[in-house]
Parts: sequence; structure tokens; C-alpha cells
Amino acid sequence: MEFNLLTLCYLIGSVTFILGLKMLSHPDSARKGNLVAAFGMTIAIFGTIFLYQEDGKKLGNYGWIFAALVVGTVIGTLMAKKVKMTAMPEMVSLFNGMGGLCAALISVMEFQHILEFPGRNIEALHILIIIVAMVIGTVSFAGSMIAWGKLNGKVKDYTFKGQTYINLILLIGIIAYVGWFTYSTPADGFYEANQVYAFYGIIALAAVYGIMFVMPIGGADMPVVISLLNSFTGMAAAFGGFLYNNQVMLTGGILVGAAGTLLTILMCTAMNRSLKNVLLGSFGGGNAASGSSSASGGNYKEISLSDAAVVLSYANKVMIVPGYGLAVAQAQHICHELEKFLEDKGVEVKYAIHPVAGRMPGHMNVLLAEADVSYDKLLEMEQANDEFKTTDAVLILGANDVVNPAAKTDPASPIYGMPILEVEQAKMVIVNKRSMKPGYAGIENELFFQPKTSMLFGDAKAALQNLLGEMKNL
Ligand code: TAP
Repeated sequence: MEFNLLTLCYLIGSVTFILGLKMLSHPDSARKGNLVAAFGMTIAIFGTIFLYQEDGKKLGNYGWIFAALVVGTVIGTLMAKKVKMTAMPEMVSLFNGMGGLCAALISVMEFQHILEFPGRNIEALHILIIIVAMVIGTVSFAGSMIAWGKLNGKVKDYTFKGQTYINLILLIGIIAYVGWFTYSTPADGFYEANQVYAFYGIIALAAVYGIMFVMPIGGADMPVVISLLNSFTGMAAAFGGFLYNNQVMLTGGILVGAAGTLLTILMCTAMNRSLKNVLLGSFGGGNAASGSSSASGGNYKEISLSDAAVVLSYANKVMIVPGYGLAVAQAQHICHELEKFLEDKGVEVKYAIHPVAGRMPGHMNVLLAEADVSYDKLLEMEQANDEFKTTDAVLILGANDVVNPAAKTDPASPIYGMPILEVEQAKMVIVNKRSMKPGYAGIENELFFQPKTSMLFGDAKAALQNLLGEMKNL
């Protein structure tokens, strides 16, 4: 490979992607990591625009390229500024879909290129890469659009009997179709009209498969599916890198593909569910609530603000368990204030972080980092479970499924086997939420009815503001 300025740009791009990804793994360095990777991407984009040459000719079309860059930058910046933390999975899904669409369009353009300039020697492997990238990109695009619609409530879960088998038949059909197309491709690139239609037929089938694949998956499993689709987009981009012999696209695609796959596995492990169960289980959608078997009902007791203030103020050690409700209420800042107030009074305060608390990986870490909560105060699930025994009071803020003991005690529960925060080992548990309604999995939580537990009803932000006010008056 000839080493020139463009290769250097691609090398910088590839190295900064790897560094950026590494930095994203810690909240302290995550923002910088994002910037480092974006810098590398900018170098790679401008390197390609100004330095790439084919048969001695530069890209040209600068008006179109820069108009598209400006439109994309403005839309991306506005969306990123406006998005609420709780709507982040939706946005990731939308952006991921766009990545899949790009990868599919690259394949379409490559095929058009072959049709426009026939007579050159076309290798079967080249055609195979074009079609596979197109199929994966299209599945990722269509699937991500459905996931986006489900997360913002515009698309409902839809299943029918035998859907799994139809999906399987569709997938086998697509693979056979791709095999046939590759095998029958003319070595000189002179395609018959019906072969050209067949190419577009594969796109349509891939789009139908993408929709059918995501449609039956339950709402609570969307983040896992989005991560899986993310890895598909990465793979499709990596195939694009092969096609153009473009190292930075190849590296970026492989990194996205590998990161998406690892994240999918990590999320499944954190919920103790197999990927098959996620893809076929319809968990957290309409079915989950009816799947409950742990409805203990019974009596629960409420705690007043002043009593809660006394319990927390006179404790030696308090553990805060944040959940989705904290994010919805945007109560992270007031939560940090309460933590500082208690620490000033000599109370040891820590946070217990469940890996799937909230609605996306690292949701609680990002939220608390935004409020300047020190990272040393965040305990991972295993560490927290070791410390609950020595904790005087647990304050649960808008968390539900991740503290549900049914995961350990009720084999019929849809969350059975999911590792949970064992808060009931502490001396006392205060639960803040607005009502007795279930969490995302749609199942009741027997923790709320245990003698150690007291309910502090209300929106998390308002409840914490009032609680802090009471503490100051003590
Ligand atoms: P959930 O089980 O969804 O419970 C959140 C609770 O917050 C609800 O019960 C709700 O009760 C309460 N709440 C809502 N708005 C509130 C507000 N403004 N103030 C106070 N409370 C409020 O949350 P979790 O414990 O964090 O569990 C996460 C769930 O998402 C799990 O089922 C998990 O498997 C699933 N999931 C997460 C991920 C990732 S990666 N994070 C991925 C896939 C699935 P009220 O309505 O009564 O207030």
C-alpha cells in the first residue's frame, strides 16, 4: 500500500477512533473521548474530500458535498442539543438507522457503477460484499426505524402466530437469493434487466425482514435490540470499507460492530436473559404485565417527609438507588445536593448502580455525572450488594424492577434470574415513586409490601426538594 497524505489522515482517524472508544468507557473521560473520535472523523472526511483520487481525478461535486455536510451538521447539532436524556435510546436508534441506510446506499451506488461501466472483470466476491452490505444495512435501517417508532410510542408491538417461522423462512430466502445472485452474476458486468430487478427485489425483502424482525420484540428490550442493530450497521460499514479499500471505514465499522455486539451480550447478561429470549420473548410490551405472577398486593406503609428526614439524617450510612424515575423527574441535581447535605452532617452516602437501571446502558452513570456526583461514590451492583448489610437506610429514587426480589424468589416471574440490588438486606428501605404502579417490566414488586419498606410518594424532584427542606429544619 502506497503511503501518502490520505493514508496518514486515515491512520489518524483509525487511531483516534480506538482512543476515543477507550475513553468512552469511563465517565470522567467520556466527553473528551467523543471529541477525540469526532476530530479523527473530521480529518478522515476532509482527507477523503480533498485528497482522494480515482484514475487521477479528484472527487469534485464540492457544492453537493458541502451542502449535505452543512444540512447534516445543523440537524445533528440541533437534535443533540434538544434531546432529553430519557429520549436518548430513541435518538441513537434514529441515527443508527441513518448509518444503516448510508451503508445500503453505498452498495446501491457501487452496483450502479458496475451497470454504468460494464465490460470490466467483475469478481463474485466483490458482488457478494456489495449485496451483503446492502442487506445488512437495509435490515438495520428498517429495524431501527421500527425501534425508534416503538420507543416514542408511535408503533405498537405486533405479533401473530407463527411469526418466528415466517421470519426464519424470510431470512433463509434472503440468504438463498443473495447466493443465487452472486452465482449468476455475469463476469463482464453486462447484467440482464431481470437481474437488475432482482437486485432491487433483495432490498425490498431485506426491508420487510428488518420490520418483521423488530416488530414483535417487547418495549423493554428495545435498548438491547438497538445495540444489536448498531452492530449490524457497523458490519455493513466495514463491508463498505472492504469495497473501497478504505482503512478508516473498515476500522470504524469493525469497532462499531464489535462494540455493539459486546454491549448486546453485556445487557443480556445483566438481565440474565439469552439473546434468543430477548428476540422471541416479547418482554416489557403488552404481554409483560399479564405475565406477572408475583402480584402480592397486601398492605404497604407510607412515611412522612419529616420521618424520612429524621431516618436519613441520623443514619450512619445511606445508600441511594437511582432508577428510571430519577431520570424522568430530572432530579439528579437535587439528589446530589441532598447527598452533600447528609455528608456534611457526617452521614456516609453512596449510590448503588444496577447495570440496566434506566433505559439505556450507563444511563445512571451519565445522569449522576451530569450533576457532578463523584465517581468514587458509585458502587457497581456486586459491591453494593456486599454493602447493604452494613447500610442503615436505602433511599430508592424511581427504581422498581432492579430492586424486585421476585427476580430471586419467583420462578414464574418474567424477570426471574435477573441479578438485582438486594436492598432488603439493609436495616430500612424508603421507596420514592409517584404511585404503586409497576415499572417497565409491568410486574408488581413485593419489596413495597415488606415490613422494612416505607413508601414516600411523589415526583422524585419535588420529593427530594421537600425532604431537603425538612432536613434543614431539623
Ligand atoms: P423501572 O422498573 O422502569 O421503574 C421506574 C419507576 O420509576 C416506575 O415504577 C415509576 O413508578 C417511577 N417513576 C416514574 N416517573 C417518576 C417520577 N417523576 N418520580 C418518581 N418516580 C417515578 O426502572 P428501573 O428500576 O430503573 O429498571 C429499568 C428497567 O428497564 C428494567 O426492567 C430493565 O430491564 C429495563 N431495561 C433497561 C435497559 C438499560 S440498558 N438500562 C435495557 C433494557 C431494559 P410511578 O409511575 O409509580 O412513579
